[in-house]
Amino acid sequence: MMHSPARTPVQTVKAAHMLDREKNLNLNEDTAPLVLSVEGVSKRFGGLQALKDINLNITQGSIHGLIGPNGAGKTTFFNIITGLYAADAGEFRLLGKPYKPSQVHEVARAGIARTFQNIRLFKEMSVLENVMVARHVRTHSGLLGAIFRTASFAKEEHEIRLRAFALLDYVGIERFAGVKAKTLSYGDQRRLEIARALATDPHLLALDEPAAGMNATEKVELKNLIEQIQRDGKTVLLIEHDVKLVMGLCKTLTVLDYGTKIAEGTPSEVQRNERVIEAYLGSGAAHSITTTTS
Ligand SMILES: Nc1ncnc2c1ncn2[C@@H]1O[C@H](COP(=O)(O)OP(=O)(O)OP(=O)(O)O)[C@@H](O)[C@H]1O
Ligand SMILES: [Mg+2]
Repeated sequence: MMHSPARTPVQTVKAAHMLDREKNLNLNEDTAPLVLSVEGVSKRFGGLQALKDINLNITQGSIHGLIGPNGAGKTTFFNIITGLYAADAGEFRLLGKPYKPSQVHEVARAGIARTFQNIRLFKEMSVLENVMVARHVRTHSGLLGAIFRTASFAKEEHEIRLRAFALLDYVGIERFAGVKAKTLSYGDQRRLEIARALATDPHLLALDEPAAGMNATEKVELKNLIEQIQRDGKTVLLIEHDVKLVMGLCKTLTVLDYGTKIAEGTPSEVQRNERVIEAYLGSGAAHSITTTTS
């Protein structure tokens, strides 16, 4: 007698709502609530005003672009909303509730996850372990469970492992699960960072130049992945120098220059904005911003 092929554990987990939290919300960007709302954020490094009185609203379900020339303050903004740096001033609300991005761990729990412009992986650990470690933010058994290897700990560990596999599959690198993270190509390391960020079940996924170092084919795959993440109900905040990519993905862009918000709007509005063109002229990259159609 023939049996139908059994589902692998990974398929089972995938079927059980891959990115389950905000799934199928079908949000309309114009009326959707805000995931993150930031008001009056400033940050100074010695004599340098890296961010000045920044207001930014990120709508649930959107892919929101954050662009600007080198040194504009984009990464500093990420570092502040994820608790790496303390803001000198500013108010933050996450899903409508006041939120203080004080500690990185707390930020992950609150529901913001990020990737890094300069990739930060545990290079000597396996690809799978890199994702598993991040998932521990959402586990319950804790240290005592780990030491005494309680049944609930073992079960939880097993679930974390399956979930990590499923996330690697989701970003397209599950075949590398067992190898050390440092052996991955640059593009795949960036995917691994995305998988690791998703492992914390964030409301908001903040990507700092995810296409850096990727070739044209990898960029297309990345675009598809980010769109899939959005379809699965996540909100994405995207820093990206590849203007074509960012304009193709985002309905709303915020433009920073020298720590100030100089423009905000749709890609075509931003492209026509005099201050934006000037800022990019100054950086020698005006061509990239004015010639790319969305
Ligand atoms: N920890 C720090 N200490 C001192 N200055 C800093 C620090 N972090 C950033 N800066 C400065 O703040 C400014 C904004 O830097 P930031 O990294 O946020 O820019 P960015 O928009 O991400 O640029 P890029 O596109 O090159 O990544 C720069 O002048 C930078 O040198
Ligand atoms: Mg940066």
